Order: sequence, then structure tokens, then C-alpha cells
Amino acid sequence: CGIVGYVGKHAASSILVEGLKHLEYRGYDSSGLALSEGNDIEVIKKTGRVAVLAGLAQKRASKARMGISHTRWATHGGVTDENAHPHLSWDGKIALVHNGVIENYQALRTFLEGEGATFRSETDSEALANLIAYHYARRDKNDAAHNPLVSAVRQSLLHVEGTYGIAVICSELPDEIVGARKGSPLCIGVGQGENLIASDVAAFVGRTQNVVYLDDGQIVHLTRDDFTITTIGEETVSPVINQIDWKIEEAELGSFTHFMEKEIFEQPQALENAMRGRFSDDESTAKFGGLNLDAREWRQIDRIVFCGCGTAWHACLVAEYLIERYARIPVEVEYASEFRYRNAPLDKNALFFVVSQSGETIDTLEALREAQRKGFRVLGITNGVGATIARESDGGVYQHSGPEIGVASTKAFTAQLLISGMLSLYLGRMRDLSFGDGREMVQAFKSVPGLVSQILDQADKIKAIAERYADHQDFLFLGRQSMFPIALEGALKLKEISYIHAEGYPAAEMKHGPIALISEQCPSVVLSPHGDTLQKVLSNIAETRARKGRVIAITSAGKDFPETAADDIIRIPSAHSCVMPILATIPLQLLAYHIACKRGCDVDKPRNLAKSVTVE
Ligand code: G6P
Repeated sequence: CGIVGYVGKHAASSILVEGLKHLEYRGYDSSGLALSEGNDIEVIKKTGRVAVLAGLAQKRASKARMGISHTRWATHGGVTDENAHPHLSWDGKIALVHNGVIENYQALRTFLEGEGATFRSETDSEALANLIAYHYARRDKNDAAHNPLVSAVRQSLLHVEGTYGIAVICSELPDEIVGARKGSPLCIGVGQGENLIASDVAAFVGRTQNVVYLDDGQIVHLTRDDFTITTIGEETVSPVINQIDWKIEEAELGSFTHFMEKEIFEQPQALENAMRGRFSDDESTAKFGGLNLDAREWRQIDRIVFCGCGTAWHACLVAEYLIERYARIPVEVEYASEFRYRNAPLDKNALFFVVSQSGETIDTLEALREAQRKGFRVLGITNGVGATIARESDGGVYQHSGPEIGVASTKAFTAQLLISGMLSLYLGRMRDLSFGDGREMVQAFKSVPGLVSQILDQADKIKAIAERYADHQDFLFLGRQSMFPIALEGALKLKEISYIHAEGYPAAEMKHGPIALISEQCPSVVLSPHGDTLQKVLSNIAETRARKGRVIAITSAGKDFPETAADDIIRIPSAHSCVMPILATIPLQLLAYHIACKRGCDVDKPRNLAKSVTVE
């Protein structure tokens, strides 16, 4: 979900809608805004995309200079106008937008109904709006030392179980917004004569580059000229103002049809950015500024655990192959959501990495906190600068991929693969990798942007193949070794954006079950790079074709992969095996993208998904 709030000298309505457009990738079931000019709060909310809200808001042409807004990814309560945010309290005085889940909302609702409150929606959030109104109505009017809205919010949050990022306004306080967070991101955009609050800096980049990130347990009070942060326990917090290092143009579509397409084509640059300044002067190893471990500490590590969700989890699986191969350190990969609730036995010399494009995924964040609670050091690989995971980890690597807007991750994933490969080099050079081996790997990494460009030059050919296969309802994606996670990622990409059922399997495992699916109706995409297992993969392809299954092969094998060996062949350059997962990913992204386009799907905003999931 996305939150934007504005207080300043300009009409808030269009600023809020503009902000929501930049957050829409975080949820797009419904959207709404609440505006106030010091009398009643006006709420406009509607199911559907932000464009629908924009039309309604324009008609109303409100001149209010303060308001809050929201774009929703439904958790409690279906996708209806009533369940959309903002929620207005029953007495009409408080409006609230909320990300997260209020777990004890039933108990709060029962209590508030007993006190005369009425409810219009099925959401957990409305209970919080009414609870704040309840405390606001009972405020001590003689208490000049405390802001009445801040006090009401603080009182309410003391009774809330669950997670929240909220922005709240009050009809009687037309120049004030109160925000608070616990487990759901919020930040403040510090402007001149105006201030903003949002769940993501993308909402206000362009109006201001000055940002203050809130921490869990903090409450912020915003007016047009000032802001103050306190904790729930009423301590004062000295804010740190950071600079956002990217420009609004980076989050705009330019000449592309979709963000996903734009981000696929940005990969040569994104990969370049991920490795800039990260090789030793003699180009024999990688170096990372933020890992915060010295060589002696690295040598003591005897196990690395990687945690992530979705596409980031696939990057973790590739990291496992690469680090075990080049650095000979045992690696385990965990779904962040699973790790959190099981009691995995861990050696004291284990090190954790959490991988997250957004840096805000709650499952990954909680895995980080669980590992830290157990006394482990946790490093992060994140793209979102200033994101919660980046701030809470004990060190880490920024991807520098730039903003990724398309819900299906592309450039962030390949940057994660590159960083994983560079980590395997870095750790390998502390162990068994020779100077010469290291130099070869550095050269391989440096060649990646150019090789990716060569594959992107084949986009039209891949589009033509995609369009021939777009009518199928089932796909298999097969690969061996480090190509297995890439097969998983290829299948995920396809199902996310085209709603085609797709499964990734280790190519040889196909014989043990999935082969039952193979028919003319179920094509396979087979990753068959040059190398040790090529002949085995060719056999798996033959087994598939013998059962009338069509095969799209992605290969770097040159003449070792005959033209007749598959129905369609996408040839990619042959390179060092540490970069082959990156190269093999590019055609899979283009296949998924063009199949989804051909089927008329909303590529950037696939149904039911959100870019960053901040609820468990
Ligand atoms: C969501 C997105 C996925 C993404 C996953 C992890 O489920 O739809 O595309 O891979 O979150 O996101 P993160 O920001 O932690 O990498």
C-alpha cells in the first residue's frame, strides 16, 4: 500500500494524487484522499486505479492545502469503496490512512461500538481511526504542553497490536498531520514552506530531495513550516536529514510502453552501477565498502545463510551455487517467512545475508531481526537506499539499480546476481581462488553490461518467439546447477505477469514427475548453456520432444547445440560460468514480457500483486 500526506501552501489534492501515481506499484486495488480546510474533512475514495481517483479529485477542485491519501493492496476486507482508505471516524473528526495490519481490531471494534462508535467498513484500519477519535474526544483540554492530535494518536497506539504506518488528520487542526510507524515504512519529505509524509520517497522526489526516515515506535507531527519527532514513550528524537540521490525522471516511463520494458533495457547501466568502484586496483578481487567485517572475521565464517522472498529468494539460490563453488563456504537459503518461525540450529560462526530489492519486505525484515536477536551478524543486499533493512542490518551492499517500478523485478534481480558473484569472488580470494582465477572473474564481471546489450539486441527475435507461444496455459522451465534458480525465476516472471501456469524444475528432475505434464499443449523453456552438463540437458530436451513437448532452448553452446535440437533457439554469448545466470535471465524476462503483452495483460500492475509487501 502507499501513503502520501501534504501540508503546505499549495492545493493539496493534485500533489497527493501525483504522489499516489508514483506509489501505485505498491498496491492498486483502490485509492482515496482526505482533505481539510479547517471545517469538515472531505473524503474521496474509489475502487480501481489512481487514474479513477484523479478524475474525481479534479472535478471537486478542492483548494485545501492539507490532506492525506492512500493506494490500497487489500488485506482485511474486500475491494470496495467503503474499505478503501482514508477512513473517517464516526464523529467525522479524524481521517486516517494505514498500511499494515491491526491484529486486535475485533476487540477494539467491540469496545468502540460499546462506546457508541459506528463502523462503515470491514477493515482493521477503521478501528484505529475510531480509536483515535475516541481518545481525541476525551483529551485534556487544559493540557497546553501536548498537541491534542499527537496525544490521541499516542494513546491509541498504546492499545494497538500489529503493524502500522499511518497518517492522520483532524477536522479541527487544519495545518497538521500526524504520522507514526511500527513495522511499515514512513518517511518525511522536508520542503520549504511545505512538508510531506509518505511510505516511500518516490511519492515526493521532485518536490524535495530532503528526507527523514522514521524508525519503528516514532510519531511525527508535521506542519507546513516544521516537524517534530517523538517516540511512543514521549522521548524527543533529533532528526537526521538525508539526501535522495536519484531524480524524478528515473521513475518516469520516457519512451517505453511499460516500466518493466524500460527496466529490462536499463540493465547494462544498472549492472555497471552495481560494480562501479568495487574491484581492487589490481583487478583480482572485489571490494565492498559496507560489509563491516575484517579479513580475520571473514575467515572465521563457516556457514552463510541467505534469506529473501520471491525474486530475491531466487537470487539467494544463485548465491548458494556461486559461493559454494568459488569460495567453498557452505551456504543455506531460507524463505524469510519460514526462517522466522522455525528454530533452525545454527553454528555460532554463521553469517546472515538478507536480500531485498525494496528493503522493506516485512518477512525479510523480521528474518533479519530474528537472526539479530539470536546474536548473528546480518548483512543486507538492498536496492532501496535508506530502506528499513538497509538501516537495521549490520552492514551491506547497495545495488544502485535505481528505482524499480515494474512489479515484476528485472534489473534489481540481475544486480543481485552480479553482487552475489562478486561476493563469491571476494570470499574465494580469501580462501582457494588464485590471483589468476580472480582476475578472470573480474574480467567476466566487467564484460557483463556489454554481453547483456548483445542479448537485448535480439529483443525482436525473442518477441516473435514469445508471440508464437503466447496462447499456451502451462509452461515448464528447466535448468541444471546455477540455471535451476534461473528456471524458477523464469517461471515466476511468466506467471506473475501473464497468469500462465509455469513451473521451474531442475532439468533432470523432470523425469520424476513433471514429464507427466508434457504434451503439445505444454512447452518447455530449457536453459542449456555450454559446459559440463550440456550433453545431459540435450538428453532431457530429447526426452521432452519425444513426448511432443515443444522446446525453446536458451544456449551459449554455439555449434555444440545443433539447430535441430530444439524448436526455437535463443543464442546468448558464452562467458565465464560466474556470469551465465545473469545472461540466461535476460531472454526469460523478454519472453515473459512479450507473452504478457500479447495476452493483453497489465504488465506493470499484475492482478493481486504488489511491488513490496509490508504485511506478513
Ligand atoms: C513481492 C513482489 C516480488 C518480490 C518480493 C520480494 O512479492 O511482488 O516481485 O520479489 O516481493 O521483494 P523485495 O523488495 O524484498 O525484493
